[in-house]
Amino acid sequence: PAPTMAAVHGGRRRHVLLFPLPSQGHINPMFRLAGLLHARGFTITIFHTQFNAPDPARHPDYRFVPVPDGSPVPVAMKDAVAQIIELGVACEAGFRDRLASVLEEYSRDAVACLVADTHLLPIFEVAARLSVPTLALRTGSAACCACFLAYPMLFDKGYLPVQESQRDMPVLELPPYRVRDLPVIGEDASGRVSELISRAMTAVKTSSGLILDTFDVLERRELEGLRRDLAVPVFDIGPLHKLSPAVYSSLLLPDRSCLEWLDAFPPESVLYVSFGSVACMSLRDLVETAWGIAGSGVPFLWVVRPGMVSGSAYHHQQQLPEGFEAATHGRGMVVTWAPQEEVLGHRAVGGFWTHGGWNSTAESICEGLPMLCRPYFGDQMGNARYVEHVWRVGLEVGGDLERGSVEAAIRRFMTGEDGAEMRTRAGELKKAAAECTGEGGSSCLAIDKLITHMMSL
Ligand code: UDX
Repeated sequence: PAPTMAAVHGGRRRHVLLFPLPSQGHINPMFRLAGLLHARGFTITIFHTQFNAPDPARHPDYRFVPVPDGSPVPVAMKDAVAQIIELGVACEAGFRDRLASVLEEYSRDAVACLVADTHLLPIFEVAARLSVPTLALRTGSAACCACFLAYPMLFDKGYLPVQESQRDMPVLELPPYRVRDLPVIGEDASGRVSELISRAMTAVKTSSGLILDTFDVLERRELEGLRRDLAVPVFDIGPLHKLSPAVYSSLLLPDRSCLEWLDAFPPESVLYVSFGSVACMSLRDLVETAWGIAGSGVPFLWVVRPGMVSGSAYHHQQQLPEGFEAATHGRGMVVTWAPQEEVLGHRAVGGFWTHGGWNSTAESICEGLPMLCRPYFGDQMGNARYVEHVWRVGLEVGGDLERGSVEAAIRRFMTGEDGAEMRTRAGELKKAAAECTGEGGSSCLAIDKLITHMMSL
């Protein structure tokens, strides 16, 4: 039988410890998981780095334990991989001390487990040394996880490193991936991306289970593959944002005035444009994007976050080309950060131009919104491939960004027949997602299984 809240309260193992990777796309799913577990009766303790620390005042029901991290400074994207690896290492000693005192305080028996982001391997190792069972949270898709597992094979068979001449070649072992869709970050001459991926998979394999923010109708085949290839149980408990009470875990302050601004537009007329929290574009691409959006005549809400343009200062408005504001007056709004979930759910929004981060992709699907995908790095290319080719709820905007082609793509997407078909399919996928999260749905059953598993560790 499904474990009830009373079962958790009555049981001894009431505490769940969590440790997110401190970047927005990883913090959101971990906090959503925390919300879900808290609603099921668990007590939540969040270990966190000083870097991008959460605001405890926003989560009065949780306990927060800061872990010294050697105060890394934000670095450019090309160094982000090294930064992630080093962050886990830098936290190791501090985490060991803090975990030991938390265990003393709660009594070891009261702690069900630690859920940590797969990119924090040293955290898993410390927990194992202190006999705390671990569960691994991967914040990407099941398909991406399968690619990570297959990384050594991808090198053995010559798919990686990516050769320009092979970019369109299918990866036979991982359909529908082509070489160009594989999760890579730059050229990785130093091999650090491979190291990051291999460490993440070690974290998964040495944990007591893998938690994925995905759901059955989206990735049934991929989930089956993971269950075949991994010895640990896999819990597909997504989309977490639909299963958790609303959580506020934004690092930047969302500009809520855009919701009111959207109220003035007809249903499905506005294009929402956002490239997530990490992706950077060149100034040239920003300018071409801006004029493409302006030329399309389509109303838009655009997130231009501080630091989004490579090597630029923080004043986003100054990066937009002169005359852009006047050219789009009355039908466009630019914000530094949006309340994205609410924006995607607003009736005026009819499409999402996204970088294809996994959270954004799942959030869009759950609102029945089609996507224009412009992937930048990592899992985003693979996500775009699934959006266009498997779920058929969007189009990839590939190649060099030119204002003319941007303009045409936006028109085709927002007002053309293709766009209408994608919108219909996205609506169907939204319904299917709601079935997974509804009573007796696959994700709800997986959550019950996860909780039973946690209580049994
Ligand atoms: C990164 C990678 O890009 C992604 O592919 C990986 O799966 C997780 O790490 P990020 O670039 O942050 O993530 O993108 P995404 O996964 O889409 O997460 C962004 C989150 O920020 C979403 O939950 C989105 O709702 C939120 N967001 C984004 C806002 O709340 N406001 C904004 O203006 C933009």
